[in-house]
Amino acid sequence: MPTKENKVVVNSWNEWDPLKHVIVGRADNCHIPPPEPALDGKVPEDSDMRGQWGKRPQETIDKGNELLDNFATMLEGRGLRVDRPIPTDFSLPVTTPDFSTESQFGCMPPRDVLLTVGSEILEATMSYRCRWFEYLSYRPLLKHYWEEDPNFRHESAPKPRLTDADYHSDYLSDKIGEQKRLEWTARKFFVTTEEEPLFDAADVLRFGKDLVVQHGFTTNLKGIEWLRRHFSDHRVHAVNFPGDPYPIHIDATFTPIKPGLILNNPKRPLPAEQRKLFTQNNWEIVDAAPPAHNSPPALCYSSVWLSMNVLVLDPKTVCVEKSEVYQAEQLDKLGMEVIEVELRDAYAFGGGLHCCTADVYREGKCEDYFSKQ
Ligand code: ALA
Repeated sequence: MPTKENKVVVNSWNEWDPLKHVIVGRADNCHIPPPEPALDGKVPEDSDMRGQWGKRPQETIDKGNELLDNFATMLEGRGLRVDRPIPTDFSLPVTTPDFSTESQFGCMPPRDVLLTVGSEILEATMSYRCRWFEYLSYRPLLKHYWEEDPNFRHESAPKPRLTDADYHSDYLSDKIGEQKRLEWTARKFFVTTEEEPLFDAADVLRFGKDLVVQHGFTTNLKGIEWLRRHFSDHRVHAVNFPGDPYPIHIDATFTPIKPGLILNNPKRPLPAEQRKLFTQNNWEIVDAAPPAHNSPPALCYSSVWLSMNVLVLDPKTVCVEKSEVYQAEQLDKLGMEVIEVELRDAYAFGGGLHCCTADVYREGKCEDYFSKQ
């Protein structure tokens, strides 16, 4: 049990120790946000989402929620404690002295917003204006954890101003083309500038004493530096993945499964120089199996590589989306027990099985997996 006398304890140091308490998102009232600089750079140029915004069709929300509810029930059936966010009204505008946008997004992917490191849960800055207030959907939970667990550190990174100075205007065009995007991202020219620290929690992977952070569209170098200064007992490593024309969130690109084993998206290989940290400490980086689908579902921001967006329940057990047969087969061959979870019709609300969850408690403590630096 994660708790003493069933009280909440916040503790999670990595992506694979036995998971006992987790947040699973909701699709309620989810909106496609109106255009804004960060979003324009991200929505794939051939996406059906370009040019439309507003509340998503109710029947898709209902279906998404059905799948998320089933996932939560399955986890509870395995003895996990599951909490759900309390959605705010995402139809409301976000207005600050610096910007205004006409609607918000949703609360399906808690992983984007909440970073759990040990006994701390940190609210990320985020980099989209429409996601500025997303933390509010999780505040009732965080308040409860704070009241129950005297060691829980509830932290919030400095809210960014998100003026136009935060975004490179070159990305405002929807006619950049994949070739140019690949050139830009390979030389680390991303949507966000270095105006102020920006990061999304889903750009961070936790390996005990080491935090691995993707530098890309949603996290800039100042955001990574902010994390380094904030988690001063950790070693923070910036990584990037040439080959991804839309580098947003690390969890469809680089997926640790258990100590010593990571899946890497074969279209987005970690550069040789950055591999050394893993290989010299005897970690194996394996190409992930191909996705089972040729295209993402309708009105979805993410790529087909949500196939690799798996949730590890413990070092022998992993949840894989039900239709992702190749990924399931690969993990089975790698010695994992695979639990199939139907989630594809919820992808459009913010991602896969890793995205739609955030850790509250995993067993274990902070270990040093990379003693050779
Ligand atoms: N950015 C990730 C992908 O869609 C989630 O591949």
